[in-house]
Amino acid sequence: MTPVTVRVPAKVNLQLSVGPRRDDGYHDLVTVYHAVSLFDEVTVQSADKTSVRVTGQDAASVPAGRANLAARAARALAARLNRRRKSGVQIEIRKRIPMAAGLAGGSADAAATLVACNDLWDAGLTPAELREVAAGLGSDVPFALLGGTAVGQGRGERLTAALAAGSYHWVLAFAAGGLSTPEVYAACDRLRAARGSGHEAALSTELMAALRSGDPAAVGPLLSNDLQPAAISLRPDLRRALAAGPEFGALGAIVSGSGPTCAFLAANAGHARELAVSLTGSGVCRGAVRVRGPAAGAAVIAAEPE
Ligand code: C5P
Repeated sequence: MTPVTVRVPAKVNLQLSVGPRRDDGYHDLVTVYHAVSLFDEVTVQSADKTSVRVTGQDAASVPAGRANLAARAARALAARLNRRRKSGVQIEIRKRIPMAAGLAGGSADAAATLVACNDLWDAGLTPAELREVAAGLGSDVPFALLGGTAVGQGRGERLTAALAAGSYHWVLAFAAGGLSTPEVYAACDRLRAARGSGHEAALSTELMAALRSGDPAAVGPLLSNDLQPAAISLRPDLRRALAAGPEFGALGAIVSGSGPTCAFLAANAGHARELAVSLTGSGVCRGAVRVRGPAAGAAVIAAEPE
């Protein structure tokens, strides 16, 4: 069978409103996901046994083999299809999305694997059916399938496409090292317990209106992330990076998801270029890239000839 290659975007959260911890350990949340043009590529082909090979950004620290979320995705899809024979796949991940960065890179690779295997096996699952399988793999996996801008509820897996106009220019500032998502949520719980604060998760209607207007100057000040204080408590150096953004004219500055990547909203493409150079030059991050959002979700880009 011909190998199948899928391209899949990273995400930032334009709003991440975290409610109380549930009995299952997850937090109810309301989030506005936004896919951006930083892509991993995943190629699958039939093999006797399922294996994962990772090249590119952070390749050495991505778990290979059966523990990899992409390998779990292939197995979950085979199980959903009752496919017992010929369900081995060689999965090759070309990473550009850094690991443990708050950009849902692992979730993206799992989503890409679902789309690729659905195509490789000619399984014909609909996008909604694939999203169901995705939800069993991780909270952010369904959004990597959908892409664009969307509101996520529940653990983040219940999605509604958002009415958003225009296109946004971002700079992603990468930090050295990563943050563990469960540790950031736990730090958030501790901070809230100490302060006696906490609230139900709720969507910002102001942010949704600003997104409909398509005006980055309106969107920038409305970006919000309830995990940001927790991420900063674990990585105090993020404070400097976030403060540097507005100094260079960023319209908004926010920790992406559970961090430590910071996302800065620029006024336009030219401003994003300047901002990336200034942030890198000021030494507040290990590197910065320009991206645009919204980007499309996981999609087949090539079926390579055998
Ligand atoms: O769903 P996923 O495996 O990506 O979640 C990773 C971890 O993040 C969970 O084990 C949990 O600690 C935390 N999490 C959470 N509430 C959510 C999503 C994730 O507490 N809604």
